[in-house]
Amino acid sequence: MNESFVLRGGIAFSESEKRITTYYRGYLVCVDGICKGAFTELPEQYRGLQLYDYGERLIIPGMTDLHVHAPQYTFRGIGMDEELLEWLTTYTFPEEAKYSDMEYAKKAYGYFAEDLRRCFTTRAVVFGTMHNEATINLMDQLEDTGVITYVGKVNMDRNGGEGLQEESAEASLQATLDWLQAIEGRYKNTKPILTPRFIPSCSDDLMRGLGKLSAERDLRIQSHLSENQSEVAWVKELVPESTSYANAYELFDTMGSAELPTIMAHCVYSGEEEMSILKKHGAYIAHCADSNMNLTSGIAPIRKFLDAGIKVGLGTDVAAGSSMNMLKTMLITLQASKMYYRLVDTDVKPLSFEEVFYLATAGGGEYFGKVGTFKDGYEFDAVVIDDSKMYSMRDMSIRERIERMCYNDADAIIKDKFVKGKKVYC
Ligand code: GUN
Ligand code: FE
Repeated sequence: MNESFVLRGGIAFSESEKRITTYYRGYLVCVDGICKGAFTELPEQYRGLQLYDYGERLIIPGMTDLHVHAPQYTFRGIGMDEELLEWLTTYTFPEEAKYSDMEYAKKAYGYFAEDLRRCFTTRAVVFGTMHNEATINLMDQLEDTGVITYVGKVNMDRNGGEGLQEESAEASLQATLDWLQAIEGRYKNTKPILTPRFIPSCSDDLMRGLGKLSAERDLRIQSHLSENQSEVAWVKELVPESTSYANAYELFDTMGSAELPTIMAHCVYSGEEEMSILKKHGAYIAHCADSNMNLTSGIAPIRKFLDAGIKVGLGTDVAAGSSMNMLKTMLITLQASKMYYRLVDTDVKPLSFEEVFYLATAGGGEYFGKVGTFKDGYEFDAVVIDDSKMYSMRDMSIRERIERMCYNDADAIIKDKFVKGKKVYC
């Protein structure tokens, strides 16, 4: 299959944050990996292209997982009774320490890469571990999936416990340079991203060094922000001169810019000051609703972030989130926003299905450029889904079918997946 073709089926995509456009038995055109739009009738100039007719199946944009920890895939769904800091020291750090063993890493990353290839995600921003060799193997395996990713070797020079702490800021920075050198020119679809784990894991010198490296090499940054109240209090102790957790990142020049946007995962406790810092820097919030529930972290006020014009996408945050299924993440995003409205603040209206579909596709996709919808000029990322089990008892519109698929993902079967016009699934 080359990268120019037409797909036919039940098409749905975001027209805007608040509107989903659908076509029953519509046509979707891809030319050289770029979407040329969706149509009721196939325009004359595309009639010579190969047509793949998916019948009654759904075709939706690929989804972007803006925050996921590859090494944690091994223990997803286990140890979920702890809160963040205890969960990190009890389960996460001991597990990540195992990735010094390349045999373990290869096997574990093999499972992760294969499952990433087989889910709704066509773009992902991924944490590795602090280990260079394992992270390079992860990148090698992700490159083979065809999914387009950013991947970070994690920086952490304090509070990692036994076996998961770099010796010093200099050692961590040198390891980062070595990693960047080793992967230079090695991949087409897999890009490096600087990854200070979070402020409690990184000394001031390390944070400053990473801020400088980001500017010197035009490298993006990802990290965690204001996920849990004990974490927020700890950061205040660690960086007493900061006026907020986001300001601590700002002091180290790691909040990025519109051209080089930083991703901050969580932002559950981001108030007015943090919101204005995120907005000023053009940062993306990776909203990780499943994780925020599992670790009893709280509910992030996504409606407020959207109203403030802050960029938001969704993250599964495996293993604090228990699966890589973006439909599940969408569902919990919806449920969490409803409970925020009901229990926390009735001035903050729940997110609509349209808005959450947008966040999962175009919202996170924007981090990768023109990605996440089927408008003319967007990179062609698409997932073909068989949901026939879910509408056998009644006629349903395409809009109803994608809503039901999100609220009841069990019977949505992925049939094909395309990333930038390349078929990556079968
Ligand atoms: N904060 C620092 N590290 C982590 C992590 O691995 N997962 C989550 N959810 N939060 C973190
Ligand atoms: Fe995380």
